[in-house]
Amino acid sequence: IILLGDSAGAHFHISPEWITASQMSLKSFINLPTALTNELDWPQLSGATGFLDSINGYVSKSYQKGGHTKSFMGPGCDISCDKFRFLRVCPLWLFSLSRNQLLDHPAIVIYAMIGNDVCNGKADPVPEMTTPEKLYSNIMQTLKYLNSHLPNGSHVILYGLPDGTFLWDNLHDRYYPLGQLNKDVTYAHFYSFLNCLQVSPCHSWMSSNKTLRTLTSERAKQLSNTLKKIATSQKFTNFDLFYMDFDFHEVIEEWRKRGGQPWQLIEPVDGFHPNEVASLLLADRFWKKVQLQWPQVLGKENPFNSQIEQVFGDQGGH
Ligand SMILES: *[C@@H]1O[C@H](CO)[C@@H](O)[C@H](O)[C@H]1NC(C)=O
Ligand SMILES: *[C@@H]1O[C@H](CO)[C@@H](O)[C@H](O)[C@H]1NC(C)=O
Repeated sequence: IILLGDSAGAHFHISPEWITASQMSLKSFINLPTALTNELDWPQLSGATGFLDSINGYVSKSYQKGGHTKSFMGPGCDISCDKFRFLRVCPLWLFSLSRNQLLDHPAIVIYAMIGNDVCNGKADPVPEMTTPEKLYSNIMQTLKYLNSHLPNGSHVILYGLPDGTFLWDNLHDRYYPLGQLNKDVTYAHFYSFLNCLQVSPCHSWMSSNKTLRTLTSERAKQLSNTLKKIATSQKFTNFDLFYMDFDFHEVIEEWRKRGGQPWQLIEPVDGFHPNEVASLLLADRFWKKVQLQWPQVLGKENPFNSQIEQVFGDQGGH
């Protein structure tokens, strides 16, 4: 399973205990060195390739997803990299993708650029957003590259962009971790602080400007439609191609049904990225949809499953 994604896919996370006065202790910094060397990403917990289920405990209990890699024949390896935007910012990563077309098992490639094409920190973010035409040509270039490197029988899934208006709608009047003690800093303050410094991960959705938020959602929708159009109209010899909507609203609905609130699905410190709970729910939906709509992607069930369980016991699917 290969994830070509941005920081949302790689599960970007800063522990709130690091900046919330009431929760600080020596113990809360125990995972900071690892976190820094991974650029604050936690791909082992990500929605697509993750297999661990708790950042602080580092519990090596399984993640739903792990079940599929183990239980189905097909993918030969597990690369859970990365936060980089391959074509434009970090071409090395995609182009260093190492596959042996003749000997390797087919791969499942998930293209999940959740935010990078509409998100930036510029004072006027709109001109910096990717246009549908530009996205079309970038994706076609990527797919041609993949076609010349992936083993025959591989699968590529294009993941749509979310509608990020839920960020402002659910967070703007809530207290930011630094402001909880004195009840003085809300996410609206925090967002405008980031925008003033031009360091926001997504000025376009993390903004009090409703026109801008709406415009960003419209662009995201156009880009998703472009991905869908490519998936339904293009054919490649070495893989089949699919498109899936990034339906964060479904995840919010499911979370509500379990008694949760939408704000609990967002990383508290950056006020932007889906958190571990959201990643888990997203992963669950993602793989269930794949299994239901395109069972050929996962392939046959591993005939050795029962023997594996006899030898290793119940590893929770991992
Ligand atoms: C690739 O695999 C498909 C079936 O999965 C087969 O029809 C096709 O002939 C294969 N192509 C090559 C070049 O081996
Ligand atoms: C809100 O955003 C729109 C679109 O970028 C922009 O044209 C407008 O000037 C912004 N309004 C304010 C008050 O900044």
